[in-house]
Amino acid sequence: MGKSPVSLKNKDILQLQGMSEAQLRLILDTAKEMKGIIDRDIKKVPTLRGKSIINLFYEPSTRTRTSFELAGKYLGADVVNITTSASSVVKGESLRDTLLTVEAMGVDAVVMRHEVEGSAHFAAQVLKPVLINAGDGAHEHPTQGLLDMFTILQYKQKIEGLKVVIVGDILHSRVARSDIWGMKTLGADVHVAGPVPLLAREMEVMGITVHSSVEEAIRDADVINVLRIQKERQGKGLFPSSREYARLFGINAKRLQLAKPDALILHPGPMNRGLEIAPDVAYGEQSAIQEQVKNGLAIRMAILYLVLMGGEEIEVTA
Ligand code: CP
Repeated sequence: MGKSPVSLKNKDILQLQGMSEAQLRLILDTAKEMKGIIDRDIKKVPTLRGKSIINLFYEPSTRTRTSFELAGKYLGADVVNITTSASSVVKGESLRDTLLTVEAMGVDAVVMRHEVEGSAHFAAQVLKPVLINAGDGAHEHPTQGLLDMFTILQYKQKIEGLKVVIVGDILHSRVARSDIWGMKTLGADVHVAGPVPLLAREMEVMGITVHSSVEEAIRDADVINVLRIQKERQGKGLFPSSREYARLFGINAKRLQLAKPDALILHPGPMNRGLEIAPDVAYGEQSAIQEQVKNGLAIRMAILYLVLMGGEEIEVTA
């Protein structure tokens, strides 16, 4: 892999807001190389040998945590997972003290998910090792935004000029915010749709189009990203009953016909099947949901490689 004039070496990855097109493209191009490693029989390369990574998750995760763990391991790093429910956090240890404790062990990178918006920025200020945000409250989930863009590029070969519609619980969605910032930087025409109480006021100033009608939003869409209804973050009365939500906003085969015939269906997972997405759409021909999971691994390999090794040549032999 050749050197790029853009470098992310030793940089914290906190958000896609403010990330340049060159930085985004560096990650996306590097992920393409990484995907080749995932497809091999023997996946392990020594690129990050001698580096250590801590996954510090204050919230549940299957995809993000597992793919960061595998990403580090495939690249030869030592990876340790801290599940806070089985850590000294339950004894009352503060976030700052937890971070300083892992730093004292000499780790090179910390991947953190936390329920509070801004916690990733706080952690980056506390820590000397690089900090990778694996989702902070409703703020951002940058690696999800990147894997969504990578998946769109795989199927559509471009992002510029595509109509991308994000449907659902926009208010609580860190995925929506990362998608919007990243995809706008790469020139997409971004729309959001959902029940009015689940639409965030800040969205209009982000330069996107906001719809309360899902039919209006998805007409002629190239990509529909269906968000999970975050039952754990819902206040009272923010959306009607599950049945009403599915009827008014759920993406089903009939609604999908309003989009372009080759429209791509994305979902960050985990899905509430039958609520925000019908099973025949989730598992249908236009769905790239399984591919998103694989692409998440490639993106996280790329991020770890770029922040820990920068533009150094990648060693691809086992
Ligand atoms: N999309 C996503 O962040 O999934 P997990 O919560 O399983 O990591």
